[in-house]
Amino acid sequence: MPAARVPSHLAIIMDGNGRCATRRGRARWMGHVRGAHTAREVVAHCARAGVSHVTLYAFSSDNWKRPREEVGFLFDLFTSHLDRQLATLLEHGIRLSIIGRRDRLPAALVEQIAAAEQRTAAGTRLHLRVAIDYSSKDAMREAFARVDAANGDLPGEPLLPDVDLLLRTGGERRLSDFLLWECAYAELAFLDVHFPDLSTADLDAVFADYARRDRRYGGVQVTADAEVAAPVGAR
Ligand code: IPE
Ligand code: IPE
Ligand code: MG
Repeated sequence: MPAARVPSHLAIIMDGNGRCATRRGRARWMGHVRGAHTAREVVAHCARAGVSHVTLYAFSSDNWKRPREEVGFLFDLFTSHLDRQLATLLEHGIRLSIIGRRDRLPAALVEQIAAAEQRTAAGTRLHLRVAIDYSSKDAMREAFARVDAANGDLPGEPLLPDVDLLLRTGGERRLSDFLLWECAYAELAFLDVHFPDLSTADLDAVFADYARRDRRYGGVQVTADAEVAAPVGAR
């Protein structure tokens, strides 16, 4: 697939882990384990395809509403996954950043995140962002609070690059407070497949569909034979 055809920034709402497991008669945590494995495959595939930014929604600020056992399990999974993946990220030139609030995360995980971000900071092949305790509304509130009242500028880079393609697995068609600002002109793709079952072939099909989209950004597609100007008298 030619590099120009893949999105520069792909964002994924990795949904359907729990249902994937319960439909097979398994516990929800098993879905999260398989989901973590899929996330690894997806990132590797994106790096090979030439995607330069991948942002994964791993835990929303609303996910604190879940049972304590599930939340605890997810944080344990982030910890062990981060540990195991660090060497691979370094080997493939992948820079890792975690977005979202850190003040409610376990202290050991916060330290581990800071170390992984620092160690992978020089990676230039792909910038992987994982959203943990993330709320887009909160991120925007925070950014707006820092607007320079004098000239209206946002200091630094509080928000992410524009999303080219937003994919949500799991069958729901909503954004669940993810990258609301950055998705202003994102192409949207919704798959009924649960995230743990997402294959690289599914991802290629989503990329192929994306490549066929006509992104106009409010403009018009001017082709050689298109009549753009109205004749005098028609106004
Ligand atoms: C997404 O899968 C993972 C997280 C939100 C942590 P879910 O856990 O939401 O799975 P479903 O939607 O209940 O199937
Ligand atoms: C969104 O999925 C959050 C993540 C995938 C991490 P949810 O399962 O929490 O979203 P809702 O509750 O269906 O909107
Ligand atoms: Mg869900």
